[in-house]
Amino acid sequence: MAYQRVKGTHDLIKKDAKTVDCIRQIFSNIATTYCYQSHYVPVIEYSELFTRSVGKDSDIVRKEMYTFNDKANRSITLRPEFTAGIIRSLIENKLVVTEPTPIKSYYFGTAYRYERPQTGRYREFYQGGVECVGTSGVYSDVEMLNLVIDFLSSLALHDEIHLKLNYLGSEETRNKYRDALRTYFGKRIAFMCPDCHERLELNPLRILDCKIEEDQKIIAEAPKITEFLTDSEKMEFAAIEEAVKKSGISYEVDSGLVRGLDYYSGLVFEVHPLKATVTQGAIVGGGHYHNLVAELGGPDLEGCGFSFGVERLMILLNELSISVEAPSPAKIYVMPLGEVAYSSATLLASELRKSGNIVEVNYAGGKLASAFKKAERLGMQWGVIIGDDEIKNATVQLKNLSTQEQVTISQVDLIAQFGGFN
Ligand code: HAM
Repeated sequence: MAYQRVKGTHDLIKKDAKTVDCIRQIFSNIATTYCYQSHYVPVIEYSELFTRSVGKDSDIVRKEMYTFNDKANRSITLRPEFTAGIIRSLIENKLVVTEPTPIKSYYFGTAYRYERPQTGRYREFYQGGVECVGTSGVYSDVEMLNLVIDFLSSLALHDEIHLKLNYLGSEETRNKYRDALRTYFGKRIAFMCPDCHERLELNPLRILDCKIEEDQKIIAEAPKITEFLTDSEKMEFAAIEEAVKKSGISYEVDSGLVRGLDYYSGLVFEVHPLKATVTQGAIVGGGHYHNLVAELGGPDLEGCGFSFGVERLMILLNELSISVEAPSPAKIYVMPLGEVAYSSATLLASELRKSGNIVEVNYAGGKLASAFKKAERLGMQWGVIIGDDEIKNATVQLKNLSTQEQVTISQVDLIAQFGGFN
C-alpha cells in the first residue's frame, strides 16, 4: 500500500522548505530588533485553554479543533493558534509577575485547524507571530503595526498589501452591538446559510465572518460596531489612527472586521493581498486584548499581538514571482599580528559580533600565510589584519578573501561597514 499524507497537510520540500527557513529567519531578525524574544510553547494544550480564550462559540472551537482524550482521559487539543498558549506560558512561568513590562514574545511553528482544505487553507499550517503583554497606551498597538509592515516590506511586499483596521470595544459595547445584530439578522435569517442560523443563536458577531457569497449583501448592510463605541473608545481609535498615519502606514477602516477569535477588545486588524490571489483571506491578523491575561488566571495586564500565515505568504510571493533571500551574516577572520594586538582584536571581534556577524580570532598566531589557510578552511569571507601600525592609527587591513583585494580602513568604518547583516 502506498501511504499518503493526511488530508489538509502538505510536505515542504526543496525550494519551499528553503523559503520557509528564510521567512522564519527574516521574521525573527526583525522581531529581535523590536526587542521581542523567542518563545516556544507545546503543540498540545488542555482543550479548556482554547475554549476559554478563543471562545466556545467561535468557529475554531465549535468545528475546527483537533481534540482527543489522552490515555488518562484528559481532553487535549492541537494548538489552533499560539496566543492562548503563549499567555498560558507567561502566566504559568510567572513571567507576568517577575518580568518588567512589556513582555515581548515571538514564535513560529505549526497550528492545526480542521477546515475544508483549499489553496491557502490547510489543516496543518505554519504561523509566525508576536504577543506583547503589559502594553500601555496606543503606541504599543502602533509599534506592532510598524513591525508587521517592516516584516512585509523586507519580503518586498509593501506595495502588494492592504491593511484593514477596526476597533472592537469593551464587553459591554460588544453586548449592545450583539443585540443590534440579533435584531437585524433575526429579520433576514430565512435568506441566510444554515451556519448563520446557528451563529445567530450562539453569537451574531460571528455572522460577520461568514464567507458564503449569497450572505454578503445582507452582511454589508448590517449595523456597524463604530455606532456603538463609547466616547472614550472612539477617542482611543482616533488616537491609534492618528499615530498610524504619522508612521506613514496606509490603511482603511473596515467596520465589518470583527475577527474570528473572541479575545479582542480594542484595535483589530488584518493584512490582505492588494490584488486578488488564489488564496482567500488574510495573510496577517491580530489585535489588542484587555482581558485575556486575567481571563486565563493572570494579573490585570493588557496585550496585543498578531500572527501571519506562512503558506499564504508563500502563495503571494509565488504569484508575484518574488524570491526570498535570507540575509546572511558576514564571516570574518580577525588576524592579530603578535600578542600585543590580541586585546584590540578581541574588542573588534566583539563589536563585529554584536551586529550578528560570525567572527573568529586567530589567537594561535603564526605566519599570515597559514592564518589565511585557516580562514579559507573555515569558509571565511573577510580577513581583518591588525598589527602595531594599525593599533597606532586605529585602522585595520581589510581583505576580501574571494577577490584578494586589500584596503586600509579605519576601525570605526569597519564596524560601520559590518554594522548589520551583509
Ligand atoms: P487568525 O486570523 O486566526 O489569528 O490566524 C492568523 C493567520 O494565520 C491568518 O491571517 C492566516 O494567514 C493564517 N491561517 C489561519 N488559518 C489558516 C489555515 N487553515 N491555513 C493556512 N493559514 C491559516 C490568530 O491565529 C491569532 N492568534 C492572531 C493574534 C495573535 N491575535 C493576537 N495575537
